[in-house]
Amino acid sequence: MERVSVVQGDITTLSVDAIVNAANPSLLGGGGVDGAIHRAAGPGLLDECRGLGGCRTGEAKITGGFRLPARHVIHTVGPIWRGGTAGEDALLADCYRNSMKIALAHALTSIAFPAISTGVYGFPPERAALVAVRSVQDVLADAPTLCAIIFCCFSDASATLHKNALRDIGTTFTGER
Ligand code: AR6
Repeated sequence: MERVSVVQGDITTLSVDAIVNAANPSLLGGGGVDGAIHRAAGPGLLDECRGLGGCRTGEAKITGGFRLPARHVIHTVGPIWRGGTAGEDALLADCYRNSMKIALAHALTSIAFPAISTGVYGFPPERAALVAVRSVQDVLADAPTLCAIIFCCFSDASATLHKNALRDIGTTFTGER
């Protein structure tokens, strides 16, 4: 059974151990997937986030899932795209790696990622998909307890980019449609 899959849909509907939030450094909510997660989780999530003291770009912090079907939310802050020469690739890779490290530290086995930084933060989606799949692949090699990594893409176009990126790096995955 392959451990990586690509699905198209709304990440707030997934019953996994953790969904990842593409947050901002305040961790106090926003638009895009962040807004959707806070709406679906209810006010308890914001209350818990208030106690976290924010989050730096590339880092990640975990909370409960509250009213979400997911048990936890792992909040990470992607880089704002500044043309590609400001370390954006490395910072985006840190988001994926640090989110998976937190999942491992909490003995979580299933985690779903949105396409971090590719909305409001303007990261080119094809380049971001390649960074995402490479980073996940790197961690998976040393993480036998992580059984399910889901790239939850909001659009068909984004799902196609992730599937193509996985094929490019030679990772087998489920979710062919
Ligand atoms: N499920 C899955 N993916 C989604 C969903 C959803 N429900 N909603 C949007 N996306 P963005 P960023 C996709 O803008 O670029 C917030 O205001 C979306 O189509 O949510 O990292 C934060 O507070 C895109 O592919 O996050 C920050 O201020 C991807 O999620 C800022 O936006 C990421 O888009 C972060 O910007």
